Parts: sequence; structure tokens; C-alpha cells
Amino acid sequence: MEVDNPGVVLITGASSGIGEAFARKLASMGYNLALVARRKERLDAIAGELESRHSIKVEILQADLSHEEDISRIERRIADMDALTMLVNNAGFGTTGHCSDVEIAKSTAMIAVHVTAPTRLSHAALPKMVARKQGAIINVASPSAFVLFPGNTIYSATKHYLITFSEGLGLELEGTGVRVQALCPGFTRSGFHHTEAFTKSKSDSMPGFLWMSAEEVVKCSLEALKRKQVVVVPGFINRLMYIRMRRFTAYLARKMFQ
Ligand SMILES: NC(=O)c1ccc[n+]([C@@H]2O[C@H](COP(=O)([O-])OP(=O)(O)OC[C@H]3O[C@@H](n4cnc5c(N)ncnc54)[C@H](OP(=O)(O)O)[C@@H]3O)[C@@H](O)[C@H]2O)c1
Repeated sequence: MEVDNPGVVLITGASSGIGEAFARKLASMGYNLALVARRKERLDAIAGELESRHSIKVEILQADLSHEEDISRIERRIADMDALTMLVNNAGFGTTGHCSDVEIAKSTAMIAVHVTAPTRLSHAALPKMVARKQGAIINVASPSAFVLFPGNTIYSATKHYLITFSEGLGLELEGTGVRVQALCPGFTRSGFHHTEAFTKSKSDSMPGFLWMSAEEVVKCSLEALKRKQVVVVPGFINRLMYIRMRRFTAYLARKMFQ
């Protein structure tokens, strides 16, 4: 699908996985892009390919979103943009180990990347989106927000923030023409499980039917955005698990309080 009047889509964490898949899909639809991540050489390669293949413009914004000064720089760039059509707050990473065992610097970096950056970048983007009566913000959260297990505490808590933040913004933006989505992908093939933190994890042993490709996740997200769905869990199996988890929690709450 081509767009008549392409705006700019800013994607954080666009150097691999789901962010790269968003960049590729939106470029094929004719949008210009602003790509944010730390690995500039990967962004350069993606930008070069997408510019020549789709005749679009791609701006590279190298930034470490765990750093205050880099968040401020991206925030200022967003505030200067007149045609920001969509903001995809996708950058993220995981850690393994109990909260007290993970280096505190890693946990505070996670809070900055998953919570502070999306909040500040959304805050910077919204005034012009609301004034133009159009735009969208996609916050990439996770079904981990609904399941608590030891070793995932800060990750689950930060992703829960993104869901609550998106649901609240969705209510505040009703009638403005601006859409908000909390995208909650299940196991997705990407760079996520291939970092140092996951060297001892057994993610490879998870059954194949639980996994989706980044492209499938992006397709579900963009289709759901058209329907104005706020919390989006791609994949039948993931939705089934998510509904069961919610029901189970409700069952426990009933058992406890009734
Ligand atoms: N894969 C899954 O199973 C899964 C499931 C649920 C949710 N998610 C969420 O999906 C999102 C995308 O992850 P992915 O699966 O596509 O993994 P990925 O391939 O590892 O991509 C993560 C992206 O985030 C960027 N990033 C990480 N730390 C950053 C920082 N400090 N500053 C700026 N950018 C940073 C990385 O870029 P640089 O390294 O170049 O900076 C990379 O582009 C994350 O928010 C993740 O929590 C993933």
C-alpha cells in the first residue's frame, strides 16, 4: 500500500528485530523514516537499502536511550518535526537473574529505555499530533507484564508501565484523531534472546509453535492500529495464554476477597 502524502515515522530500536521489521514495512508503504538505535553501522545499512529500494528519506539518529542527554536530543528532534505521523517506542532489552543479583546500572538503564524514553518521546510528539488531529504512538510492551516470575521483575514492571501508559493515553486522546497502541508480542525471532544476558537461558528449547517472526508481529500491529485496538497481543496462542492468565488472576482475586 502506498501513501499519498507520506509523513515521517520515528522508530526506536530500529537496528534489528521488530524495530527493523517496522522500518521495512513502513518504508514499503511510502513513509519517510527516522531511525534510532546505538549501532549506527546497522542503521546506515538499513537506511541505504530502504532509500534506494523505496525512494524514501531516512534520517539516522544514533542514540543510547539509557542516557539522559541522548533522550533529550531525540525529544528535541521530535518537537522540531512538523510531519511526525507515527512514533514507535520499540527499543528494549532483557536481563536474567533476580532483581538483587542484576547490576543496578542495568536495571536503571532498563527503566530509562522502557519507561523514561517512551514517556518523554510521546510527550514531545503529542502536541503536534493533536493539533493536526492525526498520528499514532505504538509502545512495544510484552505479555510478560501479565505474568510475574522470579528473574523477570524489572522487565515485567517496565512493560506493565507501558501498557497502563498506553491505555491511559488512549482514554485521554479519545476524539483527537491520535491513536495509541500497546503492542505485546510473544516469543519473537529477533536479536532479543541473543545478547550476553541470555547465554544461559533455554529460549531455544521453547516449542516452535510459540514463536512468531518480527514481520508477523508488525503486520498484526498495523492491522490492529486501523481498528484502533489499544492492547494488541499478536498470535492466537499468545492471546489464548493472555486471556487465561487474566482469568486465572481474576479467579485468585475472587478466591482471596470474596
Ligand atoms: N523478541 C521477543 O521475544 C520479544 C517479546 C516481547 C517483547 N519484546 C520487545 O520488543 C522490543 C524489540 O525487541 P526485539 O525482540 O526486536 O529485540 P532486538 O532485535 O534485540 O532489538 C532491540 C532493539 O532495541 C535497541 N536498543 C536496546 N537498548 C537500547 C538503548 N540503550 N538505546 C537505544 N536503543 C536500544 C537495539 O539497538 P542497538 O543495540 O543498536 O542500540 C535494537 O534495535 C523490545 O522492547 C522487547 O522488550 C520482544
